[in-house]
Amino acid sequence: MKLRRWLAAGAVAVATVAALNVTPATAGRPYDPAAQSLRDLAIRHGLYVGTAVDMAVLNDAADPRYRELTASEFSTVTAENVMKWESLEPTRGSYNWGPADELVAFARQHNQRVRGHVLVWQNQLPSWLTSGVENGSISKAELRQILRNHITNVVTHFKGRIWQWDVVNEAVSDPWDNPSTLHYKGFWAQHLGPDYIADAFRWARAADPKALLFYNDYNIEAFGSGNPANDKTQFVYDMARDLLAKRVPIDGVGSQGHLGTQYGNYDTLQVAAALKKFAGLGLATAFTEVDVRSQLTAGVQAGDSAEINPRLQASAANFSVLLRACLAERHCLSFTLWGFTDRHSWVPGWFSNPPEGLATVYDENYQPKRAYQEIKADLIFAGPPYVLPRAVQTPRR
Ligand code: XIL
Repeated sequence: MKLRRWLAAGAVAVATVAALNVTPATAGRPYDPAAQSLRDLAIRHGLYVGTAVDMAVLNDAADPRYRELTASEFSTVTAENVMKWESLEPTRGSYNWGPADELVAFARQHNQRVRGHVLVWQNQLPSWLTSGVENGSISKAELRQILRNHITNVVTHFKGRIWQWDVVNEAVSDPWDNPSTLHYKGFWAQHLGPDYIADAFRWARAADPKALLFYNDYNIEAFGSGNPANDKTQFVYDMARDLLAKRVPIDGVGSQGHLGTQYGNYDTLQVAAALKKFAGLGLATAFTEVDVRSQLTAGVQAGDSAEINPRLQASAANFSVLLRACLAERHCLSFTLWGFTDRHSWVPGWFSNPPEGLATVYDENYQPKRAYQEIKADLIFAGPPYVLPRAVQTPRR
């Protein structure tokens, strides 16, 4: 909806409510925003709210609530694993499209958009590829050709059905890596040099001119020192600026948003300022993998509410920081959770020493947690003048 129409509609609604001194009602029932889904509340702002989807759980007939909530609460979905290279091409030359196609069909059926995840990443690569490079049977020239074919095949397969592609994921090191000066890390940089990033965006654009092409990473929620040698957000910002200067077709930067309550984290205004800075380059932004984990101390595991409550509250506050910052920036197009229930979250399996969990917005029994209520409240109470409808983002040629 156009901004003026949106404001006008709001003004009419306010005037009507004022005149009648009642809340808006549908079919005789009082209007209750808390009874709306996240997706319905978000779309009033033009914002898409999403989740990563585990296809095995989606198809588990013994766990129907997962499928119901995936459909009812979210307007965009991401494959948690089934679009990764090891899943799509476990054997060289033979693609397994089944589970990814199923997710795309599910999304279409439920009027959802799809974030494609992921074309180029150093993790979850098929072993035929990594071992071939290791033992020298795949040369550098061949590796580049293999990457080009992969991007072309995958983007072509899903052409017209992917809203945003994570073209390159997690290409930048962290300050705790060795060497600590930030640099391009991992398999692709090591074997092809950093130019693979520009190539990947160009190949993706050639295969689907309509998808929005994203760079995606973690620990880029806010700017720090401003020195790209140790400020990862600055490093990524400079990278995006340089790609744009070379006319590389990058449309957006995805901030994963994996937070933990044990860390310092950021406030809403810091995160909003970062999103605004990326928008200043002409880029869209998105939160792509949001979860807020906590340490599962002995007390937490024993059910001690004095230990559990502050974690649930801190988690809710951090979800809210990211969502409000996104709402406040018109080029922040979507807010995707990396799973929505503690029953199926990657956190306990991945962060086990010390054990971590409680990272999502529904508990293990699909009861909404405080985090769910807070992000719902954020969607309800947001509006002009600071929260405006999303900007229109068209793919860069
Ligand atoms: C994770 C999945 O959630 C796990 O199921 C899998 O075992 C490992 O990968 N950053 C990303 C995601 O970009 O693809 C990762 O997903 C989480 C971190």
